[in-house]
Amino acid sequence: MGSTWGSLRYKIIAMDFENILEDIQNGILTITINRPAKLNALNKITIQELHSAFSEAELNDRVKVIILTGSGEKAFVAGADISEFSDFSAEEGKQLAAVGQEKLFDFVANFPKPVIAAINGFALGGGLELALAAHFRIASENARMGLPEVSLGVIPGYGGTQRLPQLVGKGRAMEMIMTAGMIDSNQALQYNLVNHVTSREELLDFAVEMATKIAGNSLVAISSAIKAINANYGDGVNGFEIEIEEFGNCFATADFKEGTTAFLNKRKANFPGK
Ligand code: COA
Repeated sequence: MGSTWGSLRYKIIAMDFENILEDIQNGILTITINRPAKLNALNKITIQELHSAFSEAELNDRVKVIILTGSGEKAFVAGADISEFSDFSAEEGKQLAAVGQEKLFDFVANFPKPVIAAINGFALGGGLELALAAHFRIASENARMGLPEVSLGVIPGYGGTQRLPQLVGKGRAMEMIMTAGMIDSNQALQYNLVNHVTSREELLDFAVEMATKIAGNSLVAISSAIKAINANYGDGVNGFEIEIEEFGNCFATADFKEGTTAFLNKRKANFPGK
């Protein structure tokens, strides 16, 4: 049973997608959005494929941490695919935002395993919103970030009006959204939009280094931490109560036994992940 399940899980990661690439090494799954000719714009298929890749990664014990990036020299993701919605009605627009938020953006934000966005170029519109949904962001110095939707006569619909102010503050978010302008990586760092800036060449190595550090900790505890941190931003949810609940739950885990035993025995913990 164990080996059949194991090989099934291996196949899941090796699955072929049209617009994304996956690579898993040492528990770190790198998902690369791969439509460079369209600057990795998020069309319907790509959103569906990302949903599938994340769903599979959730079930796959081999996946500890996820790095999300874009292919090519220029873009992380240059937005939602404008060609797909230019003739939509109000109702279709609502559907587009609702389905996208549920399948991808909220799904990533609440994902139980850590998700790092490695922003390698333009992150605009839905591209920046995807990076905002990730648990944290690092960017290469050539990256450019913005929410240009109002220049198209629309507003951010994949969580940007909510998640951008949470990170950069209301005034800066208002300015970025109203001007539809782009900021560079260093300004993004100053705004707390990204945590680190690297050279273009070093971005993925740096992301892997961070992911490796994270993967050495208890992923069961990290999953609880994600829930508790996100609870601060949920409607009608008391984050302190969620923290108490999740804190208590940790005590019943094998990871907690291992972590505390290893500390008391002056050795490095080897977390079973349960
Ligand atoms: N949706 C659909 N196609 C897009 C796209 C998007 N969001 N962003 C880029 N593309 C396509 C372009 O149409 C072009 O396709 P083509 O070669 O078939 O004409 C290709 O990607 C390359 O883009 P191009 O505009 O030629 O590159 P550039 O270097 O001159 O400009 C940007 C780069 C990012 C400034 C520009 O592509 C842009 O403004 N994109 C739209 C950004 C946006 O408004 N996003 C929010 C959407 S809600």
